[in-house]
Amino acid sequence: MIKDTEGKEYMDLSSQLVNVNLGHSRKDIAEVAKAQIDKMMYTSTLRGYANVPAIEYSQKLTQVVPKGLDHFLFTMTGADAVDCAFKIANLYYKVKGERRYKILSLFNSYHGTLRGTGGATGILKGACAECPPCGDHIHIPNYFCYRCPLHKEYPSCGIECAEFLDYFIENEGKDNIACFIAEPEQGAGGFVSPPPEYFPRVREICSKHGVLLIADEVMTGFGRTGKMFAVEHWNVTPDIMTMSKAIVSGYLPFGAVAISDDIWNTLKGQFFAPGSSESGNPICCAVASKVLDIYREEHIIEHAAEVGKHVRERLEREFLPLPHIGSLSGLGLMLGLDIVVDKKTKATPGLEKTNLIWRRGFEQGLYLRVMGGRLCFSPPLVITQEEADEALDRLYPILAELKLS
Ligand SMILES: Cc1ncc(COP(=O)(O)O)c(C=O)c1O
Repeated sequence: MIKDTEGKEYMDLSSQLVNVNLGHSRKDIAEVAKAQIDKMMYTSTLRGYANVPAIEYSQKLTQVVPKGLDHFLFTMTGADAVDCAFKIANLYYKVKGERRYKILSLFNSYHGTLRGTGGATGILKGACAECPPCGDHIHIPNYFCYRCPLHKEYPSCGIECAEFLDYFIENEGKDNIACFIAEPEQGAGGFVSPPPEYFPRVREICSKHGVLLIADEVMTGFGRTGKMFAVEHWNVTPDIMTMSKAIVSGYLPFGAVAISDDIWNTLKGQFFAPGSSESGNPICCAVASKVLDIYREEHIIEHAAEVGKHVRERLEREFLPLPHIGSLSGLGLMLGLDIVVDKKTKATPGLEKTNLIWRRGFEQGLYLRVMGGRLCFSPPLVITQEEADEALDRLYPILAELKLS
C-alpha cells in the first residue's frame, strides 16, 4: 500500500517501476542499510579492491544465477548495467582480435536512456532521438504474437521472429556483430512475453554465429515472472545477464552484470574501466544480500508463481471477454492486457483515453501502470491472493465500463 499527501491509500499494482518486489518500507531491510553505514559505509572497488559485503553478496548471487554465469560487476542502475554489458562485449571481441562491434536489439524494447543504451532501446524513439545512438545499434522485429510485426500467426509461423535473427546475422555479416540483447519479457513495451520456443532458438542462433547473447533481466529478474530469472522458463543460459531494480527491491540504487566463464577467462588480465565510484558500494551490496535472503527464506518466488497463476486465470476468464480487452500476455506477476478500441481492428485508443483508466484507478484506490495501449499488472510479489482478488474486483468495473468507440 502507498499513501498520498492527503492520506488516501492506494494498492500499488505496479510495484512503482516494477522494482519494489518486497513491498514498501520493510524495517528489516532498512536496519541492514543502517548497520552497514554504522560499520563501514564506503571503500572503493577501483583497481581490484573489494569489500566484505560485495564478496559476500557475490557468493550468494552465484547460487541463484543460471549456472556458469558467476562472475559479476556491480553497477548503480539498470542502464548502467546494460552499458557495461555492451563494453564487455566490445572488449571480448577486441581481445579475440575480431572486429565485431554492432549491437542488435528488438523493436519495442527498453534498455535505458543513457548515451550508450538509448540506441539499443526500441521504444521512445522520440526521447532517444535527442541523443543519437552511440555505437552501431540495429533493431530487428520483436516477438509479439498478438501484433506480430511479420504478420504471422502462432504457432504456424514457425517462430519466424527468431528465424529472422538468423537471416539477419547471415546477411548483415556475422563477422561484425558483437551481441544481441533482449528482454526475456518486454517490460516497458507493455509486458509482452515471447512464445516458448523463442529464446531456445535465439540461443542456438547466437551460438552458431558466435554472437554474444545478453539477457536483460533488469525488470524480469528476482522473481517477477515466477522464476528467479525469466530465462529459467526455457532453460536458456545467456552469455551476459544484466540485473537491477528488484535486486534491492527499490530500497537503494544498484545493479549487476553477470558474465560467463568464457568471457571471464578471455578478459582476465585486461584493463577494463567500467568506471563508477559507486561500483560495489557496500551499503547497496549489504541490502542486496538481505533482499536475496528474503526472496529465498520467505519463498517469495514460488508465491509469486502461485498468485500469478490465479490472477492470470481470472484475467482470462473475466477480463478477456470484455469488449475492449484484446489480449493477455506475460509470465508470473508481470501480466499485460491489450486495450483496444475494437477487437477486429485491434486499434489502440489514444493517450487521453488510456489516461482515463489510470485516473479512474486513482479514484478506486489503485496505483496502475498504463503504458501506451497496455494495462500492466505487476504488484509487489508479496501480495496475497485475497489482496490480488480485491485489486481485480476494483479494476474490473473500470475496464467493463470503458467507452472507446
Ligand atoms: C529491461 C530494462 N533494462 C534497462 C532498464 C534501465 O534501468 P534504469 O532505469 O535503472 O536505468 C530498464 C528500466 O526500466 C529495463 O526495464
